[in-house]
Amino acid sequence: MTAGTPWAAPVVPLDTEVEALAAEWVEPYSQAEHLMRARDWLVHLHPGAPVEMRVAAMTHDIERMFPGGPVLRHADGDWDNPFYLFPHSLRSAEAVGMWLGALGPVSAQVSVGEVRRLIALHEVGGLNGADVVQAADSLSYLETLAGLTRDWVLSGTCSREAAAGKLAYTVERIRVPAARELAEQWLIWAMDQLPVAQEALR
Ligand SMILES: [Fe+2]
Repeated sequence: MTAGTPWAAPVVPLDTEVEALAAEWVEPYSQAEHLMRARDWLVHLHPGAPVEMRVAAMTHDIERMFPGGPVLRHADGDWDNPFYLFPHSLRSAEAVGMWLGALGPVSAQVSVGEVRRLIALHEVGGLNGADVVQAADSLSYLETLAGLTRDWVLSGTCSREAAAGKLAYTVERIRVPAARELAEQWLIWAMDQLPVAQEALR
């Protein structure tokens, strides 16, 4: 049985040209909702978040839209594996840097280097806003990708234990106290969606 949905961040309208273009760019990506919700959570956690943080949040995983990226071995359950996380983060930073660079005058609305830095740190967090982008990604993961995590178990992509480990890691890595508190509620909700042992064996 699934518990009631915890409180969720309100949707934030797209109010700059570069964000509107970024939303169009990421739209075909299968996890575009996760990206857009990361931006909403970011603004909730940090209402004055500069455009660089907002663009970073809404594009941080985009390398996965393009073939040839690093491959995550779900079955291993080592969710902090640096040989996946770092290439993934850096490849996204490169993709976004190239996309911004090709936008022409609109790219002058943001510091491309700052967007790249925040995306490169989105899995591990860091100084000057990087912790907040990481926390927003974590909250959005729990909200939008709990179902995907459940499907990994149902399809045999990873064990129930590994999936539970992914959800727990998503909360434990958060370094922003207010976000951690919100994530604890989402963790219960997401864990509740994992199949019971018998379902997982089918
Ligand atoms: Fe993400």
